[in-house]
Amino acid sequence: MENESRRGFMGKAFGAVSGVGAVASLYAMKRSWDPLPSVAAAGFTTVDLASAEPNALVVEKWRGKPIFILKKTPEMVAAQTEEATARDVIVGGENFLIAIGLCTHLGCIPSYRKDSSDFLCACHGGKFDSSGIDTQLPPPSPLVIPPFKIDGTTVVLGEEGPEYAKMKESGLIA
Ligand code: FES
Repeated sequence: MENESRRGFMGKAFGAVSGVGAVASLYAMKRSWDPLPSVAAAGFTTVDLASAEPNALVVEKWRGKPIFILKKTPEMVAAQTEEATARDVIVGGENFLIAIGLCTHLGCIPSYRKDSSDFLCACHGGKFDSSGIDTQLPPPSPLVIPPFKIDGTTVVLGEEGPEYAKMKESGLIA
């Protein structure tokens, strides 16, 4: 009888201790699942494109990656293919290229050539047009369009807005 009650007490005590332990470890796990506030805040980059100059490349940073933002001139838009226009992000009635500025070959940062309105990757000579479409090997695919959301004249990088979802649906984004 005495043994039984001791066992009962030990059982309860152990249960209580392991209960506290379980709650503590769940809390620790939850904390490690949640992103740190600074990471969550750094996950988005907001860029106001109201004063963007046509044919002048702007390079922003999002999650440690360079993001190319290029406002196109009406001539550039008129000269481009339908495929290229489908990749344009329209902000405030203007056509923009928004793409991760890393070559899809081996990840170098291509440079923008204003005169020819294209990108040249100096590493192995790859080229992309002003819509980020690969036009000369070795890059195997166009520059990647990052998740974005349009909010008036601003673009929020890292958030998936309806325009981005549409591009995804149409197969423009892998
Ligand atoms: S990394 Fe750009 S062409 Fe090779």
